[in-house]
Order: sequence, then structure tokens, then C-alpha cells
Amino acid sequence: MTSDSNAAPAPGPGPSPEHHLPLSGRRIALGITGSIAAYKAADLCSKLRQAGADVEVIMTPAATEFITPLTFKSLTGRDVVVDMFAASEAEAHVEVARRADALVIAPATANCLASLAHGQAPDMVTLTALATAAPVLVAPAMDNQMWEHPATRANVAILRERGVDFVGPTEGRLATGRMGPGRLAEPPDIVAHLRALLGQRDGDLVGRHVVVSAGPTQEPVDPVRFVGNRSTGKMGFAIAEAARDRGAEVTLVAGPVSLPHQPGICRIDVTNVAEMLAALETATSKSDAIIMAAAPADFRPASAADQKIKKEASDQSLQIELVRNPDIIATLPGGGVRVGFAAETHNIERYAVEKLAAKRLDFIVANDVTAEGSGFGTETNQVIIFHGDGRKEVFPLLSKYEVGHLILDRVLAHLHAAN
Ligand code: PMT
Repeated sequence: MTSDSNAAPAPGPGPSPEHHLPLSGRRIALGITGSIAAYKAADLCSKLRQAGADVEVIMTPAATEFITPLTFKSLTGRDVVVDMFAASEAEAHVEVARRADALVIAPATANCLASLAHGQAPDMVTLTALATAAPVLVAPAMDNQMWEHPATRANVAILRERGVDFVGPTEGRLATGRMGPGRLAEPPDIVAHLRALLGQRDGDLVGRHVVVSAGPTQEPVDPVRFVGNRSTGKMGFAIAEAARDRGAEVTLVAGPVSLPHQPGICRIDVTNVAEMLAALETATSKSDAIIMAAAPADFRPASAADQKIKKEASDQSLQIELVRNPDIIATLPGGGVRVGFAAETHNIERYAVEKLAAKRLDFIVANDVTAEGSGFGTETNQVIIFHGDGRKEVFPLLSKYEVGHLILDRVLAHLHAAN
């Protein structure tokens, strides 16, 4: 789809409060069953709280053999429900199931999967799963032979068929000392899966395809050296996460960065401008928005040496001829709502407005890469957004994730204006 640069989307306010933390305002029921991995549920619980979720914990009696309810009461400030025969707890449980935005069962044992698959409710966790209409995310943890047993495979297949989401298990060293699949997924991965799941459920970008570029490019000088820059990819990755959390299908074209893969995001790794351009041409052929947060190299060596250039081969200096790289965003014909960045050190407004027009952008996000807390490698950014219709919005220093939401709010306004 295309957008109309002359349309005037409503001027957006600062970041909405719900965008400060990815799970703020969400009620998450956390079910814990009897696996040695139950100790990791404390970390998961803490990470859910840090992400802004209101967490209510339910445990099986077996889980309490591994970790105490007091741990979770301390982490959540709420009573933990274990005994399904205690009247007040049982009543509370039904309420937990009904008011939950999602049920996460981590760790989920083979026994738990069997009960879930067959609609049995021998404990509070499985009973909650039966009583809730919310999405269910299951993180199994068990011995590899139990995980690979045909009975467990069949139970997993039934649950997937029914729409239950799974994260993990991962492969590695198990409690028994054996190696294989059966380890509980890491808490950050469980949280990321949950964010994606909730976004797909009710996010305002459901049905939209957002393409984001991130990171630097490396243009080879010889087999061991390259021309590059200081971009770490954090800005682009944060935008991609924000879009994923709002339910978008996200394609992230990433230059060489050391950031981990994020669940729910289709990531395409590239090295140089030519590869980034090719990947973005394909990705934007049917996208609703392209957000160019990458820092592609403007120049590349005219030719790359086949072998390492030896310092003995040259005198006191070495001349490397650089030629212009294609301007990726200017080359891409469409992509939907077109958003660029301007990384500047001076004359920010002048250069940003020039790029806005030259690259046919709907708006451009300018950042002063010399300012404290802004630009390359930081967790935060201070941006000014210049719009195609002449408006300018100045924002305070925000997390890159919040900046991602600011951008997406404005992308959404363009999409609505274009419909
Ligand atoms: O990755 P981080 O460490 O988190 O740092 C974030 C960032 C500083 C890289 C990011 O916030 C940012 O400013 N990205 C744009 C960097 C850049 O290349 O700026 P520019 O002003 O040189 O380019 C203007 C626009 O043209 C950008 O959208 C850029 O992606 C695009 N461009 C540039 C060169 C090129 N050959 N092709 C392009 O499409």
C-alpha cells in the first residue's frame, strides 16, 4: 500500500503511558508445576513484573516441593493459590482464570501437558487452564526421554492444534546430567513470546507488515578489514520489538550486530549495502511501512583486495579509493509509510529536512549522535520528528523502545489517513 505524504495525521502526543513497559496493564496468571526448573520461575516472575505485568501465581503441590509460595508472594505482593480444595482459594482461582489476559505455565511437566491435552484438572494450574478464555503459553521442562516419548508428542500436537502456544524446551544439559531437548526456555524468551502473543491478540498493528532496518553495514577493504560505523542495531531492534508487541508482522533486516534474535520477528542478516538493499527490496514489496534505522555506509572501497593488505607493501600511507553506495531508502520504490532517520552532529534541522524530501519520506526521525544518551550504542535516544507536511515534534530523552512506539503511533496515523 502507499501513503499520502500530504495527508496530515493527527499530531501525536508524547509516548502513551502504556508504552513505557511492554506488559504494563496486563494481568498474567503464572502457573508453576513440579519440575526442578521451578526455581527459574522466580526469575520469570520477576521479569514479568519488571515488564509491567500484574502477576498472579498458581502452583501445583508438586511445585511447592521445589520452591515455596512465599517466594512468589514476595515477588508479586499477592497470595499464591495452591490448594484447590480451600474454598476461598478455589473461588479466587476462578477469578484469576477469568481476569487473566494470558496464562503462562512455566515450567510445564509431562504430567501437566497430559492433563491439559485431555481436559483434566487435578490441580490449580490445569484447572485454571480449563477455566480461562485467555491465550495459554506453555514452557515445558522435563527429561529428554519424557519429552520425546510418543505420548508427550501426541499431547503437544493436541495442544498446538487447540491453539496453545509453546516456547521451548531448549536443548542442553538436563538435571539428570544428560544432554538433549527438555530445558526450560530462558525467562527473557518466555517474556518475549508472551509479548508477541498478546500483540497478535489485540495489538493495533495486527494485519500490518512493518519492515525495519537496523545496524551498520560492513564494506570490505580486504578479507580482514572493512569500512563500517558505530551503529549497534539497538534503535532498529527496539522499533522491531515495539511493532511485534503491537501485533505487526515484522521483518527486521539487520547489519552485522551482536544482538540476540528476538522471538516473533523475522530477521534477515546482511553484511553490506548491496545485500541490505536486495533484502529490503524483497521485504518491502508488500509492506505497510519501512522504517530505516540502519546506518548503511555511504561509501565503499572501489575494490576489495583478495588477500590481507600488508603494511610492508605500502610506504607511510595507504590510499583506498571509496565510491558511493546506493542510497537504499531513496532507491526503494515504495514500502508503504516511509520513515527515515537522520544521524547528525550539527545543522540537524536543515539536513533532516533535506533528507526528508530527497528520500521521499513521510517523516524523518532526527537524532544528534553527539548528544549525551543519544545515538550510537545507547539505550536511550532524544529525537526530533520532521513531517512531510512541515510539522516538527521535539521529544525528551526516552528509551529506544519508547521511541519505537512514538514512530509506530505516527506510522499508524498515516495508515489510517491513507485508508
Ligand atoms: O544502532 P544504534 O547503536 O542504536 O544507533 C542508532 C542510530 C544512530 C544508528 C539511528 O538512530 C540512526 O540515526 N540511524 C540512521 C543512520 C544514518 O545512516 O543516518 P543518515 O543521516 O546517514 O542517513 C539518512 C537515512 O538514509 C537513514 O534512514 C539511513 O538509513 C538511510 N540511508 C543512508 C545511507 C544509505 N546508503 N542508504 C540509506 O538508505
